[in-house]
Amino acid sequence: MDWTTLRKECLACTACGLCETRHNVVFGVGSETAEVLFIGEGPGEQEDLQGEPFVGRAGKLLDDMLKMIDLDRSRIYIANTVKCRPPKNRDPLPEEQAACLHWLTAQRELLRPKLIVCLGRISAMRFIKPDFRITKEHGQWFRNGDAEIMALYHPAALLRDPGKRPETFVDLKALQAKIREVCEHTYDSVHSA
Ligand code: URA
Repeated sequence: MDWTTLRKECLACTACGLCETRHNVVFGVGSETAEVLFIGEGPGEQEDLQGEPFVGRAGKLLDDMLKMIDLDRSRIYIANTVKCRPPKNRDPLPEEQAACLHWLTAQRELLRPKLIVCLGRISAMRFIKPDFRITKEHGQWFRNGDAEIMALYHPAALLRDPGKRPETFVDLKALQAKIREVCEHTYDSVHSA
């Protein structure tokens, strides 16, 4: 499967009930050769309307967080645990996450990322371990197949509770150091998106 075919098939997905209320499937954004994959929770209202992940207020904060460690959307890949907006921004149901997982698995197979960053509890519980405790375990590295994986507080949580930002800054710096250690081209001065 290549990116073009995967995207085309994903945009036509009707595997769960979220297809009935969505405006757009939010496939993902970034470099198709990224070494670092960020995984959020699910599209919100703006993402649903625009078809791109993290374009609302939380997305602006995510861009600022990336900038702090010399990253931007063209150097990484950003996707979500579910590709369609859960109504009223409720948590995605386990069955919706299960129905959607194979799209992200296929994206991961194409990317073969060295590092995965879960944004928030929902993503960390799905991709790190079901009993993941974000308040205790954010910033810690775990092994996940060929990749190393960690979780940051979700940018929306940082908007609600700015007191968590200093810890997140430490986690971001640890991420930057890990990228320098294990990635080959993420910080190249010339790169293609
Ligand atoms: N929150 C998420 O988890 N993902 C998005 O794409 C937007 C907001």
